[in-house]
Amino acid sequence: MRLMMLQLLAITITLISSGPTWGDELKGQCVEGERQALLKFKEAFGNTSNRLSSWTSRGDCCKWRQVRCNGTTGHVISLDLSRSYSNGTLRGEISSSLLGLPYLTYLDLSHNDFMKTQVPEFLGSLHHLEHLNLSSANFSGNIPYQLGNLSCLQSLVLSSNDFNLIVNNLDWLHGLSSLKVLDLSYVQIGSVENWHDALNMLPSLVELHLASCELSNHPLSLPYVNITSLEVLDLRRNYFNVTIPDWLFEAGHRLRHLYLSQNKFEGQIPDKFHNMKSLVSLDISKNNLIGPIPSTLRELANQRHSLLKELYLGNNLLNGTLENCLAQFSGLVALDLSQNNFEGVITEAHLDKFRNLKEMALSSNRLTINLKDDWVPSFELEVLRLAHCRLGPEFPRWIQPQKSLYIIDLSCADISDAVPDWFWSLSPTIRYLNLSYNHLTGFVPDLSSYISLIYLDLSKNNFSGPLPLFPQNINVLDLGENTIFGPISHVCAMLGVNNSLDVLDLSFNNLSGNIPNCWTYGQSLTTLNLANNHLSGPIPDSFGSLITLLTLSLDRNNISGKIPLSLKNCKSLVLLDLGYNQLSGTIPTWIGEELQPLKALILSSNAFEGYIPLQLCQLKELVILAISLNQLSGAIPQCVFPNMVVKQNTPYINGLYSRIDFEGEYISHPYLILHYHDLVPFALIWKRNYYVYSGHYAGDWALSSLKIIDLSSNSLSGDIPQEITRHVGLKSLNLSRNKLNGSIPLNIGEMKSLEALDLSMNQLSGSIPTSIATMDELQIWNVSNNNLSGEIPSGNHLDTFDSSSYMGNPNLCGHPLTSKCPPEESLQDSHHRQGQAQGWDWDKIHPFYLSMALGFITSFWAFWGSLLICSSWRHAYFHFLSHICDKVYIITPVVVAKLRRQFWSQQVPK
Ligand SMILES: *[C@@H]1O[C@H](CO)[C@@H](O)[C@H](O)[C@H]1NC(C)=O
Ligand SMILES: *[C@@H]1O[C@H](CO)[C@@H](O)[C@H](O)[C@H]1NC(C)=O
Ligand SMILES: *[C@@H]1O[C@H](CO)[C@@H](O)[C@H](O)[C@H]1NC(C)=O
Ligand SMILES: *[C@@H]1O[C@H](CO)[C@@H](O)[C@H](O)[C@H]1NC(C)=O
Ligand SMILES: *[C@@H]1O[C@H](CO)[C@@H](O)[C@H](O)[C@H]1NC(C)=O
Ligand SMILES: *[C@@H]1O[C@H](CO)[C@@H](O)[C@H](O)[C@H]1NC(C)=O
Ligand SMILES: *[C@@H]1O[C@H](CO)[C@@H](O)[C@H](O)[C@H]1NC(C)=O
Ligand SMILES: *[C@@H]1O[C@H](CO)[C@@H](O)[C@H](O)[C@H]1NC(C)=O
Repeated sequence: MRLMMLQLLAITITLISSGPTWGDELKGQCVEGERQALLKFKEAFGNTSNRLSSWTSRGDCCKWRQVRCNGTTGHVISLDLSRSYSNGTLRGEISSSLLGLPYLTYLDLSHNDFMKTQVPEFLGSLHHLEHLNLSSANFSGNIPYQLGNLSCLQSLVLSSNDFNLIVNNLDWLHGLSSLKVLDLSYVQIGSVENWHDALNMLPSLVELHLASCELSNHPLSLPYVNITSLEVLDLRRNYFNVTIPDWLFEAGHRLRHLYLSQNKFEGQIPDKFHNMKSLVSLDISKNNLIGPIPSTLRELANQRHSLLKELYLGNNLLNGTLENCLAQFSGLVALDLSQNNFEGVITEAHLDKFRNLKEMALSSNRLTINLKDDWVPSFELEVLRLAHCRLGPEFPRWIQPQKSLYIIDLSCADISDAVPDWFWSLSPTIRYLNLSYNHLTGFVPDLSSYISLIYLDLSKNNFSGPLPLFPQNINVLDLGENTIFGPISHVCAMLGVNNSLDVLDLSFNNLSGNIPNCWTYGQSLTTLNLANNHLSGPIPDSFGSLITLLTLSLDRNNISGKIPLSLKNCKSLVLLDLGYNQLSGTIPTWIGEELQPLKALILSSNAFEGYIPLQLCQLKELVILAISLNQLSGAIPQCVFPNMVVKQNTPYINGLYSRIDFEGEYISHPYLILHYHDLVPFALIWKRNYYVYSGHYAGDWALSSLKIIDLSSNSLSGDIPQEITRHVGLKSLNLSRNKLNGSIPLNIGEMKSLEALDLSMNQLSGSIPTSIATMDELQIWNVSNNNLSGEIPSGNHLDTFDSSSYMGNPNLCGHPLTSKCPPEESLQDSHHRQGQAQGWDWDKIHPFYLSMALGFITSFWAFWGSLLICSSWRHAYFHFLSHICDKVYIITPVVVAKLRRQFWSQQVPK
């Protein structure tokens, strides 16, 4: 009994002395000066400091939530203010009162907003610091060299400050002799001469992250980095366009994680993996690598006790037959071979040995997946990507037992089947589901219980039935090009309090009824595409709440009424497509005044009347203006649209980005990839082939060169304004079927980018300017049915057009018309020749040429737009196109020109 008492006493004493949590008055309690320092530090964050509410002027600061003290001395040793630790962003500056915490060893300020202030120099005086994390904290300016005084520092994270951190030299790194972890991702260290020398001075470095550091800027090759001590090397997204260097494969190192993805590494993958015994994960996806998977890599994976678990080779140009080697990877947990040129027929025999596979990505190769329905895999997948594989025609039953899937991509997989019921109850944790571009049938059931589902693409199938219910958390919902019918009233249910819906595409279905007026909650919506349905009624007023909307397309419905005034609140709109409806009234002036970012305005084929408002001239970004087939009258405003004046492509990327890309990966940086939204504006133009890009950086996007003015089929009168010829970047100008008079501007030939110029069916007079002959790109040229006179200019390209371009101008003469021009001296008498046109072959006038109505945007570019992208995107893109899903071919420019003509002449209306 006494013994027990003694023991209890002893335990109590130990507990009391062991830390401040036990309320010892003397030991381990906050030092007053440090509490004051913390309070002052908090003050600088103003009213954003709510989450530091436990920081009060009384009480033990060692008990405050984000603070830790040394249990013996009571000095503050750790401050963890990362947002990921608690909630709410701190916004403000770092107070120098931090210097009142001299024993700080751990300081994490990541994921806050320091408002582009500099990283303070005084941090270099916190000599005990071992961990400093300033990641994603909106710092900018120079990284102070004083950080080099932190000789105890073991980890330094300066990543993801939006490229705003600058380094002029890295010599200060020498002082960090204890450094084990260095993360400079998104800091532009590539501009530092010999950046690698500074890194090579760090003897104990274990982790090195240099993703997106623009290292390839200078020098162009990947210089030697001493990786002897490294376990993690991250060189993602640096756009190296060299071969993968040999030094990465030197003997004697213990690299465990090697990340080289999203560069432009070329050549073959070095066959030197025999030295890479420690390798756990290898990511060399998204490069330009060619050739086979090297045999040493296959052997490494195939070894008995191989450590290799993750292999990402996707999105390269690798080739070979997978049948021979797939089984060698059976020890892997993640295997990504997607978007390469692998071929083969994959059967159960190749997959039977896989036990631990969680991620299988074989999309976009030339693979046939031939698995028996009753095959039961011995692995449990979480990620399955078999897009563009030959998987069908039956829906793959072997997926049924896979209950952990959260990413499924079976798009464009040749499946022509009904989706079995079990599939829809597959996995409640599914996040990403893409079944697009198949021939799937059946009704889509109520999916509202799939609370994890954030991306659903069922487009381009034969799904039918009424619009199902979807979960409120969904980000991207694409049901385009199915036969879904009935009202859309319950889309409102998706626009719940979470405001998470980003993309809603229900285009090309049979939806009908009014668009509900319930968009007040759609405040994160960026793309709303309801085109090609049978929707009727007015444009709802509550669209005005969609302040983040970039793309609004209601094209080809039966929508009537006026454009509601509330739409002027949608100040982010880049594409506004209301074409082919029954909208009436005038074109609102506020479109020009308020919708400044607008790049494409499509109001064609409605019942708009009145003038084209002068205010449209204020749309500085505009590249597509299509208001044909209305009842507009008055003169063409003398606008000059700056973006059409330049020949350069205007990237559609600027300022647009999505939180999610095609592969369902979250994207944190807008520079990386072209996203869904950038492509959607063109969905309308080239049908829905916006399904394109995932992978390489495409700084320049050919489609962004589409520059179009289409004012055809109205009652516009007056002259063709001289200003229009300043739009030298324009690809297509259609003013046909109006009441324009006056003459064709003399310098029209300066619009050298024009591929289509249609001025037919007006009352234009005078002669055809000879400058036309210098327009080398012209494929479509029509001035028929005007009152033009004089000799048709000739030369160059112009000679390839036939008489149909000129029909119905009784006073025109010369090739290709049959009427000869009078000799030079009598030209001025040309008026007298009015009655002499009997020689004309009126029979040849095809109705088509009389009515070159513009389904131009939607049909011409549907075809031609697709061709344009091909030439620019090459291989990453080629993968996509080479698969069955798109009827797009890569053709030489010569054939293209021919085809364009052919295509155009097939557009002849009956
Ligand atoms: C914080 O204060 C600023 C100006 O002092 C004010 O604009 C802002 O609305 C306040 N924020 C909160 C959440 O109170
Ligand atoms: C606390 O401070 C004492 C005395 O300086 C030191 O020996 C001990 O290692 C410190 N403990 C921690 C957890 O830092
Ligand atoms: C997050 O914020 C809420 C409300 O402001 C608060 O009740 C909660 O305690 C905070 N959580 C943390 C971990 O700070
Ligand atoms: C970064 O700070 C600047 C300047 O205060 C501010 O305008 C910007 O919105 C901040 N960025 C982020 C992502 O918080
Ligand atoms: C730094 O902060 C970021 C963001 O909170 C976090 O992801 C990362 O793990 C931290 N790094 C270290 C080394 O603590
Ligand atoms: C790389 O660093 C190690 C020490 O970390 C050193 O022994 C070795 O000589 C260095 N290699 C080269 C080529 O500089
Ligand atoms: C690599 O990139 C640089 C700069 O971007 C360029 O000058 C060079 O021609 C490229 N080399 C190859 C082989 O593409
Ligand atoms: C792989 O591609 C290269 C050219 O990049 C070619 O020479 C080789 O024949 C291809 N191999 C196979 C198996 O297709």
